[in-house]
Amino acid sequence: MCGIIGIVGSGEVTAHLVEGLRRLEYRGYDSAGVCTINNGALDRRRAEGKLDNLVNVLAAEPLIGHIGIAHTRWATHGAPTTNNAHPHATAEVSLVHNGIIENFKPLRDELIARGRTFESQTDSEVVAHLISERIEAGDMPEIATAAILKRLHGAFALAILFRQYPDLLIGARLGSPLVVGYGDDATYLGSDALALASFTQRVAYLEEGDWVVVTRDGARIFDAQDRPVEREVTISGVTGAYIDKGNYRHFMLKEIFEQPVVVAQTLQSYIKPLDGQVALPIPDFALSSIQRITIIACGTSYYAGMVAKYWLEQFARVAVEIDVASEYRYREPVMEEGGLALFISQSGETADTLAAMRHAKAGGQKVAVVVNVPTSSMAREADLLLPTHAGTEIGVASTKAFTCQLAVLAALAANLARAKGRLSAEQERDIVTHLAEAPAALNMALQQDEPIQAISAIIAGARDVLYLGRGPDYPLALEGALKLKEISYIHAEGYAAGEMKHGPIALIDDLVPVIVLAPSGPLFEKTVSNMQEVQARGGKIVLISDATGVAAAGEDCLATITMPDVHPLIAPIVYAIPVQLLAYHIAAIKGTDVDQPRNLAKSVTVE
Ligand code: F6R
Repeated sequence: MCGIIGIVGSGEVTAHLVEGLRRLEYRGYDSAGVCTINNGALDRRRAEGKLDNLVNVLAAEPLIGHIGIAHTRWATHGAPTTNNAHPHATAEVSLVHNGIIENFKPLRDELIARGRTFESQTDSEVVAHLISERIEAGDMPEIATAAILKRLHGAFALAILFRQYPDLLIGARLGSPLVVGYGDDATYLGSDALALASFTQRVAYLEEGDWVVVTRDGARIFDAQDRPVEREVTISGVTGAYIDKGNYRHFMLKEIFEQPVVVAQTLQSYIKPLDGQVALPIPDFALSSIQRITIIACGTSYYAGMVAKYWLEQFARVAVEIDVASEYRYREPVMEEGGLALFISQSGETADTLAAMRHAKAGGQKVAVVVNVPTSSMAREADLLLPTHAGTEIGVASTKAFTCQLAVLAALAANLARAKGRLSAEQERDIVTHLAEAPAALNMALQQDEPIQAISAIIAGARDVLYLGRGPDYPLALEGALKLKEISYIHAEGYAAGEMKHGPIALIDDLVPVIVLAPSGPLFEKTVSNMQEVQARGGKIVLISDATGVAAAGEDCLATITMPDVHPLIAPIVYAIPVQLLAYHIAAIKGTDVDQPRNLAKSVTVE
């Protein structure tokens, strides 16, 4: 999603701005641009497509200046063209914007009626014109910005340059994050601490409605009522060291292979294997009175929540409702006083999830969040913080964050069951033992990489693929289909295996591979029956099961993938590996941009 960096320094800033943009590349974008103030004029370079295109433009026409702003854009209003790329500028003002100005249409009409002309289709350009009008009328930058911010509806993080003020940068946030970075001889703005990691770790996170005047020597922050405020300066802990791909061809593959380690790392904070106990980093008393939980998330994180629903209901006997964040907020959900709303997010910045979280809080819910980025808005705003320790996830398609979320959610379900007196010490020890086995089982699952690569070559030519699973493996089927769609652009659907006969079975023919997730366990026989219904209609099955399951049902399959024998509790964690590897290898065979698939963004900061 869009990324922002701004610098007020004493040396040349363009190379640093580009360096900041490089760090933001993983978020996904489709154009980029830079603006500096040079010799009393705003000077811009912009380019469609990858950052290297902008670098080439800068090589042909270098930009100089001690102050500048830069942006990677993920198109919302207007195609990803050079004209729509940020920064947007008038003769007086240049700015970069993340988010969506929802009332941009009436504002644009109003500006056009006053004779202003636009070069882009973006919502962002109206903000440049509105502020510019006030500057042209003689307002100081602070006065002009404060006045215009109050006219904007929607979500924004802004960084604004003023031609006549070459030592000053103004930033503002509402809904989209913005960070101030304090360096030795420069001050920075960034859409996250990672953008500033090469320059400084000393950062202050702006709060909702804040705006900030940045100079080389520091920053003055104001709240939504324009009162001067202090925001704590913290150490981000994000180092300048580049995260590289090591020997892997893509970040996604590296992250898939990191899972045994990061799941173990995450579990360390949630279970005590020697004592046979779960040990959440939140107090038990917060959980014992909970009668109902609402889980809210988006995409892959939502599927982790779907798995958790099975666990929470099975172990803790607590009713669980689950919703995608973009629906939850607008469907007027019934919120019981003191109910628990559980949010799940890798980035902690997903706009839909963050807005739903604030909505739940305002409705009197206690808000718990399972989140991977410890400095994110969700982590900072939650009542109960349940961190995953997956490390930075660069690949746009989420992999290691998902399995770490599952590990935390399984421990949460067990902890809640214990707090409610529904788990004997022996049962708790059992769960902890199985969870502790997950990292080794993940390692064994990864050993199937080569056979999975071979099977991927067969599936890569398909136009449609179906995934089937039952119980907690049903969300895995959905996740498998999502991964495949995202990175290979093959149409895929996930179904509850038993639901197949109620309609989707009409799709079955010998051209549609059907990937069945069926670990041995109480639901195995049922899933095999559904598999046979597919086979009876000429469907080609890829069976993912353990040795027992493959021996029992693998005979007439197109291919089988053998997973280690695992307890059903950890099967969804372990079976994530083959669905991730299948999607990865199919995409790699097709030659798509695996780490930054078309149209997608890592952190979706618009609604
Ligand atoms: C899929 C994927 C997305 C995210 C979704 C939520 O591979 O990455 O579906 O899971 O955008 O993102 P977070 O978890 O950051 O809230």
